[in-house]
Order: sequence, then structure tokens, then C-alpha cells
Amino acid sequence: MTAKKAFYITTPIYYVNDIPHIGHAYTTLACDVMARFKRMDGFDVMFLTGTDEHGQKVEKSAAAKGKDPLEFCDEVSMRFRELAKVMNFSNDDFIRTTEERHKIACQALWRKLEDSGNIYLDKYSGWYSVRDEAYYAENELTQGKGGEKLAPTGAPVEWVEEESYFFKLSAWEDKLLEWYEKLPETVLPKSRKNEVKSFVEGGLRDLSVSRTSFSWGVPVPGNDKHIMYVWIDALTNYLTAAGYPDVDCEKFQKFWPADIHMVGKDIVRFHGVYWPAFLMAAGIEPPKRVFAHGWWTNEGQKISKSLGNVIDPFEIVEEFGLDQVRYFLMREVPFGNDGDFSHTAMINRINSDLANDLGNLAQRSLSMIFKNCNGQIPETGVFTPEDEKILAQVDGLLSQVRELMDRQSINKSLEVIWKVVSDCNVYFAGQAPWALKTTDPQRMGTVLYITAEVVRQIGILISFIMPESSAKLLDQINIATDQRGFSQLGTPGRLVSGTVLDKPEGVFPRYIKADDK
Ligand code: MSP
Repeated sequence: MTAKKAFYITTPIYYVNDIPHIGHAYTTLACDVMARFKRMDGFDVMFLTGTDEHGQKVEKSAAAKGKDPLEFCDEVSMRFRELAKVMNFSNDDFIRTTEERHKIACQALWRKLEDSGNIYLDKYSGWYSVRDEAYYAENELTQGKGGEKLAPTGAPVEWVEEESYFFKLSAWEDKLLEWYEKLPETVLPKSRKNEVKSFVEGGLRDLSVSRTSFSWGVPVPGNDKHIMYVWIDALTNYLTAAGYPDVDCEKFQKFWPADIHMVGKDIVRFHGVYWPAFLMAAGIEPPKRVFAHGWWTNEGQKISKSLGNVIDPFEIVEEFGLDQVRYFLMREVPFGNDGDFSHTAMINRINSDLANDLGNLAQRSLSMIFKNCNGQIPETGVFTPEDEKILAQVDGLLSQVRELMDRQSINKSLEVIWKVVSDCNVYFAGQAPWALKTTDPQRMGTVLYITAEVVRQIGILISFIMPESSAKLLDQINIATDQRGFSQLGTPGRLVSGTVLDKPEGVFPRYIKADDK
């Protein structure tokens, strides 16, 4: 037997100074959808998420709550695990940077960087933003209303002057540019690649990679007065979970380099510049791809705690339904662009794409079979060109979707699936099986068979986006659980006439506002 191809996908690890919101849910959902797709497509998948628990920001947040940092991290990290449960995320591992395995990996990577001459001790003086956990040059700063200096993100900065280890980032300019050039899809979308590329072309300064003014972090090996810069610590999580520093272990051999680091556009510089430079300097292969998606706004406004418009994923799942939220987030916005969350848009998607288009197609065809064909998948007569056409469309979907998913065009994958749903609705309306009941029952059976077959395949295809609804749909046509894989798409899994159906029940209810119910 040939070994399965491996696929390793990661989310950013989330800061624990904040509780999970829609942005976190979005990134992890996109990874979940990719991971489920790849698993169904025959890959051995490792899907990683977790929490970023070190740094001055966390130390400060814990102190503000009068808590010990680890106790504080335990609580918030748990919320991210709960989110994974509520959102039906299929992550294979959940890493916390406070775990021992991670400390070992960070210190091993540090030693590699030091031994290869990429780290040196000096003195740092400059601006630092605790909120962004990032250093800024004087010329990047802006002035706040009160004349105070601000980072380009609007975060306050403070002057830092301390002994610090530096990473020789400046030595990696050429290698990075070569990496972008040789492998043009390592950073996507293209606009983000251009952004990191021009940042590198603008010249790189060595990066301060340790701090001495706080203690919540991984100590620098051999000099524990120093704590590693939180981004070195955080980025290393991707290696830790793959088994690093045991580079000979099966896991590492199989899964490294990672196939996709999925991130928001805010942290593309860390992943598309610093991270590959650290890895190259340590003699480790950089990831195959960093994909930076866009940001969500809420009813047109930037989401922020101070505006009080943070969207709580637990609440929207409660209000709209899990698969409805999963579908909306993946369908509404071209993946990579910014998107706006609005109640109207959500309700439109639920009522139009889910309830009307797919829900009605399934419900109408299956109910007709239930009532008029003895509750069994009907026998078929000769196929007409219209029958053949819609079958060919659904049979050809997987190869289209596969190509799109390989470029993380998640919303386009849904568009092509829904094109077939809508064409099948047109087919169903045009063939009008209800009018054939007495005049040509065999033809009615054929039309219902074809429609149910389209529903079966769509049911399988949507499982990476809406696993629960897919299962409900396939249960209704009595498709055995081991017959729901991609290998059953097209002719291999064709519906068998005579298969008994359960009484169909709508899988996608319409959304009715509480006060209209
Ligand atoms: N801890 C770092 C990441 C370290 S990875 C080695 C971090 N954490 S974070 O909690 O601030 O999460 C940032 C990520 O959350 C973004 O990159 C993005 O994936 C997601 N989002 C946060 N707000 C968002 C929106 N409003 N919209 C979409 N996603 C956003 O940065």
C-alpha cells in the first residue's frame, strides 16, 4: 500500500488576553474546512490550533485580574477549546505555549540559531508596543491626539532600553527574496506576497529577540535573565507540534514543512518574513505556504473592544445555527478579502442559499419520492440529454472544487457547488415531475432519481463545510456511513433503485426572527 500524502495546516495561536471572537473563529474555521476537505480527499492530515500564552501583554492582563499568569491562561485557553467544540472544529492537536514540549522546542531552536552564528548579544533601545508585541522604528510612528507616540496599528508604544539578543535578520534578505521568487505561491494572496517582498526589499534590520524586563516566557538557554521574544516563542509552536526537536521522528518527517500557515493579514510579516528567516537560519525548511486572509467588520464598522461591537461566535451559533454560521463565513467573502458581518447578509444566505436552493431541492424531490414511489428510489427509464447534462455537471464537481481548494478559494468552491444546485432547481422545475404522475410515471421516476442523485452528491460534497447537515441529508437517502466519501462521487456511488427512504424532513429551516415566529 502506498503511504497517504500528508497535509499539515495550522492556525495562528491565539493570545489569551482576549476571549475568542468571530475573527479567531473565522481563521480556525477556514483551516477546519481545508483539513476536512483534504482528509476526504485521501490525505493524512494534521490540523493544529492553540493558544499563545507568554509575553508581557498576558503578564499584564493576568496581573490586572489579580491572577497568577498560568491560572489566567488555563481559563482563557479553555474558552478556545470550547469554541473548537461548539464550532465542530476537527483539530488534531491543541498546543499551549506553556507546555513543556514547547519550551524544549523553543530552546532547541534558539541553540541552533546561536550555534550557527545567527544570534548575538547587544543592547536594544527603541520603541516597543506591548499590545502588538512588536518593535517599531521612529519613522513608522504617528502622533496621538494628546501628542503621544503611536504604532501604525494605533497601539501605544513605550521606549525600551535594555540588553538584548539579536537575530541577524539583515543577513537573510537575499535568501528571502529568492524564496519568494523561486516559489511564487509561498505567500498568498499575491497582494500579500508583494507586501512582504517590498518590506524585505526596503532593507531588513536585525531583530531584538529577547527581553529582560519581565519574566513570563521561555528563558534563553544559558542566560535565564533573558526571556525569548514572544514571536520566536509563538512561531515555534508549529515545529513543536510536529515533534521538533526530534527531526528524525515519523511525525516530523511526515508533516514538516507545513503545507499552510493560515493567518490574518495583520500578522503576515511575522509569518512571511521573520519565520522563514528563522527556519532557514536554523537549517530547517520553510513552510510551503502562508495564506493571509482578510478582516471582518461588524455592520460596516471595525471590530474592537472599545466600540463594544465584538461578535461572539458562541452567540451567533446559538442564534443562527452552527452549519448556517459555517456556511455564511465561508461563502460570503472571497477568501483573502475583507468582509462585513451583517444580520441581513446572514439571513439572506440562510433563507436563500440554504433553505430555498438546497433545502427545497432536497425536500421537494425526496418528499415526492416518499409519497409517489413507495418511499423507494425509483427505477429509471432512458436518460434524456437534460438528464445527462445535470448528471455530468454534478459528476464533474469534485475536480473543480479540488483545484479551487488547492488555492484556498473556499468561497468559489461553494459557488461552483451552488451553481449545480441552482441548475438542478431549473432542471426540476422544467421537467415538472408532479405533472407526470399519471401521464408518464416512469419519466417522473427518472426525473426524481436524477434529482435525488444530485442531492446525494451535493450532500457528500458539502460535508467539509457543513458536516452535520450533510450527515442529516445523507441519512434521509439511507446512504451508509462508509459510502459518504469522495470515492463515492460520480458513478461509483450512484443511487440504487429500490433503496428505501426515511420520511424526509427539512434539513435547512428558514430563519424567522424571534418576534415574527
Ligand atoms: N498570538 C498571535 C499569533 C501568533 S501565531 C504564531 C496573535 N494572536 S491574536 O489572538 O491576536 O490573533 C490574531 C488572529 O486572529 C489574526 O491573524 C486573524 O487570524 C484573527 N483575527 C482577529 N481579528 C480578526 C478580524 N476582525 N477578522 C478576521 N480575523 C481576525 O496575533
